[in-house]
Amino acid sequence: MRTFLSPSDLGDLQTAFREAQDIKANRFRYDTLGRNKTALLIFFNNSLRTRLSTQKAAMNLGMNVIVLDVNQGAWKLETERGVVMDGDKSEHLLEAIPVMGSYCDVIGVRSFARFENREDDYTEQILRQFIQYSGRPVFSMESATVHPLQAFADFITIEEHKRTARPKVVLTWAPHPKALPQAVPNSFAEWMVAAGYDLTIAHPEGYELSEQFTQGARITHNQDEALEGADFVYAKNWSAYATLNYGKVLSKDMSWTISSEKMALTNDAAFMHCLPVRRNMIVTDEVIESPRSLVIPEAANREISATVVLKRMLEAL
Ligand code: CP
Repeated sequence: MRTFLSPSDLGDLQTAFREAQDIKANRFRYDTLGRNKTALLIFFNNSLRTRLSTQKAAMNLGMNVIVLDVNQGAWKLETERGVVMDGDKSEHLLEAIPVMGSYCDVIGVRSFARFENREDDYTEQILRQFIQYSGRPVFSMESATVHPLQAFADFITIEEHKRTARPKVVLTWAPHPKALPQAVPNSFAEWMVAAGYDLTIAHPEGYELSEQFTQGARITHNQDEALEGADFVYAKNWSAYATLNYGKVLSKDMSWTISSEKMALTNDAAFMHCLPVRRNMIVTDEVIESPRSLVIPEAANREISATVVLKRMLEAL
């Protein structure tokens, strides 16, 4: 595997799930595969789970790991070609990428949407430059439009906890004080459809996601109706995708917060969120602390999803 952005990069998802279970049973089973290989993890944005779980995954496979926080200690990077570099950015990404590639065997990149230009974000400008110029396999650690390591972990978690072959999964928008990217809901929708689940997406008007990711899902503006009979409730905030409002917060409607009353509409659903979460904005204390909350096992599965992805990349070197 040379790139990891979407479920199709993994091939058959049930095979990937079995591989994940095999690794979970003994996460050091492949601890010589990465001997003398180096993973470079590059963060343009903050992280807790991705940073720790991906490092742990690389260590499970016997790899060396280098972590670079681009905005803390490295030269400020220019990303646009043709710019007269007379400002505060000392180095261009087009030199920095091949240099970084020369020190490692695989590269993970975290680079969020900037909300300056929807086309730049949705063509994954930064990640694509790493793929083109590094000469190394590249995986997204949440890039402008996708968060596949998270969605793979979400898929593993649902497979582990589902009570029916084809569960009803609801992805619901919930309020948040700041503008957040669409990467998590995009990938979650894409992976849930690829997994063959019964997916409903609920959001207020104006929060339609790109059809590139939601084809195959039922979409509604009525959260209560969506929650009826749900087996899994995945709450997440995202900002607007539509051209005129791209990256904007259109609503902070607290009636969309996931509460015990909302969960009572479901089929005793499990609650999921990728974390970090704003309590009592996205979800109440009561729901996230309830026995039906999967947020901790879901986060723990990030180590497993990253181990599978790095293993596949090492096997293809
Ligand atoms: N879910 C997730 O990616 O968490 P971090 O932003 O902390 O890495």
